[in-house]
Amino acid sequence: MKASPLDRMFSPRSVAVIGASRTPGKIGNTLVRNIVSYGFKGEVYPINPNAEDVYGKKAYPSVSEVPCEIDLAVVAVPAPCVRAEVENCGRKGIKFIVVISSGFKEIGKRKEEAEVLQAARKYGSRILGPNVFGFFSRASDLNCTFGPAEVAKGNIAIITQSGALGIALIGKTIEERIGLSGIVSLGNKSDLSEVELIQHFDSDPHTKVIFLYLEGTKRGRDLMAVARKVVRRKPIVAIKSGSSQKGARAAASHTGSLAGSDAIFDAAFKQCGILRASDLDEAFNWIRVLATQPQPKGERTLIITNAGGMGVLATDACERSEVTLLDDQPYLDKLFEGQILPFGSTKNPVDMTGQARDADYERVMRIGLSDKKVVHSILSLYCETVDANSLNLAKTMDRVIAETGAGKPCIFSMIGGGTVKGAIDFLNDSGHPAYPNPVDAVSSLGALYQRWRFINKTEEPLGDFECDVESARLLVKKARAEGRVQLYAQEVAEIVSLLGLRQPRNKVCRTVAECVSAAEEMGYPVVLKVVSKDIIHKTEAGGVKLDIDDAREVATAFEAIMTSCKQRYPEATIQGILVSEQVRGGVETIVGGSTDPAFGHVVMFGMGGIYVEVLKDVSFRVAPVPENEARAMVRGIRSAPIFYGARGEPPKDVESAASAIYKVGRLMDVLTDVLEMDLNPLMVLDAGKGCVVLDARITLKDEGGEEQ
Ligand code: ACO
Repeated sequence: MKASPLDRMFSPRSVAVIGASRTPGKIGNTLVRNIVSYGFKGEVYPINPNAEDVYGKKAYPSVSEVPCEIDLAVVAVPAPCVRAEVENCGRKGIKFIVVISSGFKEIGKRKEEAEVLQAARKYGSRILGPNVFGFFSRASDLNCTFGPAEVAKGNIAIITQSGALGIALIGKTIEERIGLSGIVSLGNKSDLSEVELIQHFDSDPHTKVIFLYLEGTKRGRDLMAVARKVVRRKPIVAIKSGSSQKGARAAASHTGSLAGSDAIFDAAFKQCGILRASDLDEAFNWIRVLATQPQPKGERTLIITNAGGMGVLATDACERSEVTLLDDQPYLDKLFEGQILPFGSTKNPVDMTGQARDADYERVMRIGLSDKKVVHSILSLYCETVDANSLNLAKTMDRVIAETGAGKPCIFSMIGGGTVKGAIDFLNDSGHPAYPNPVDAVSSLGALYQRWRFINKTEEPLGDFECDVESARLLVKKARAEGRVQLYAQEVAEIVSLLGLRQPRNKVCRTVAECVSAAEEMGYPVVLKVVSKDIIHKTEAGGVKLDIDDAREVATAFEAIMTSCKQRYPEATIQGILVSEQVRGGVETIVGGSTDPAFGHVVMFGMGGIYVEVLKDVSFRVAPVPENEARAMVRGIRSAPIFYGARGEPPKDVESAASAIYKVGRLMDVLTDVLEMDLNPLMVLDAGKGCVVLDARITLKDEGGEEQ
């Protein structure tokens, strides 16, 4: 593994604390106390013009007066003094500067923050912060935080955007018996962000699992690119807060308004193998398994239990957490023949009944652990019984695992009174994840499998993109040159046809007579639609009429559209009426692309129709996606069964829908100027009959042209 560019920051030979207060309780004072008391082996230089020494370390009035080289500076002086101190650090040749001080971007002082960064850049120094609590590094026994003096050492690296939460996590990890290889506060991320820190902990030999607490990112694509590689070596568990819909901005298109940033984070994390936990408890539960258990060799899980009810709870949870139960009954019968009490069950969950003792658990566990064929992981469940000793059982389990050396994931759950708590702690301290709740045990095994599936999945290449991209670009350029952000229907139709997607035959007409002759040429039924760049939501404006079966109905629809649109949009210029052949049958869907502030272009698939924004039955991916991922997007919506032949209906043409998703994703990826694109509705016909774009819309970015 290559050395990390941040090695000197996490393993400095010397640290200066600027603003090393003499007063206990002040942040600068606590920083020196923590560094000294935790046993940092390097040199410590408190910087304070008024102090002689702090915690026995000689103080200097300025870093420039320290007679030796300094690798790291921690700055804890009021915000207005920070820039000058960063300059001093740069001049002194200090390459890493942690700015603890608050009072920058988080309170609107962007200019001041930019000046601090500029000062650091001038000297090639890197900044962590401002507005951070510091960091802890096991690699050098350096606790340069103003949090608790005590930090439990271990192999979990925490990267947190929330300072207060991070400080609380130091205590919580001790409580949870989870040790840290590092904890880093990200603060305002003026320079170093989660991206560089994940890279650092990837190369840190003390770190086994990386836990990320994120509130947002400006570097979504970089994060994905780095995570995609790192998760193959080390799992990344993330909590992304702010999952409410507040983040969703107002947008002209359906795709844009459906793309709340949380749904995009969800998709992006899945695409790059980051395991997203919903809360801290879940994250810690998962980390316990990910940090201790080997990779499984297959999908099948065996549950053993002494209580039917606990087995059922776990079985239900397996379905939710996508854990596959071993269900080869003849094999199970053979495996456990004569090993289970006669009133027990060899059906998975294997029930040894409440009469099971240590010896029964040992025997059955040995069989499960030693099986080389079908048992890939084990969930061992236990309900405390009157005359059993939980701690003894835990010790037996520890011994059996050591003796069999089976190298398969083995996770425990124990329910009961006081003695069970001791047994669970014993198992956890011995590196066997154990939980008081079987659902948590299953969910943690599910996280292990989620990662396992990700790293075993062969990545499908993007494949060919048969589209005349240059012509599409020219259409976009033309609109831009004319000062439009909305493409005309005709331009959109041209782009849709460049993508090779089918559209109904249509013709723009100006009069009723023109409409009738167009309809008769293409054959009834037809649809009439208003053509106006000023009317975006045509249906709401009364600008769309369906099921028109003869000339008389054409005339009525024409008048109705004109009256309604003029009434609702008196200022709108109406270019004409579009007559299109009407496509009947099929499922109404929406395929769209939009632009996310963190991840750039994303692609969406969902059920279409008038309830699209109410039902929100959609799936997202960061664009572009290969076709297998596009198929997974169809499978990923709640209404997916409709596409696979629900209630005796013929199955729908999923392949053509996936192909449309793929094409929109590719197009969004190359047309960086596009803000949003909707194919809505996209009618997905019966299998083998393809899909048809009934309406589409393309909106350009406001400023135009900027790369993501
Ligand atoms: N160089 C060296 N020493 C200096 C300098 C300087 N330029 N300026 C001041 N000092 C000394 C002071 O003399 C003082 O020492 P003394 O107490 O021995 O006299 C010490 O440095 C501290 O200076 P103060 O002016 O007393 O500053 P104070 O300690 O009150 O506040 C701080 C400084 C902590 C950086 C404050 O401005 C701040 O930003 N607090 C918030 C920090 C924070 O919460 N960060 C985010 C963490 S994440 C989270 O949310 C938990």
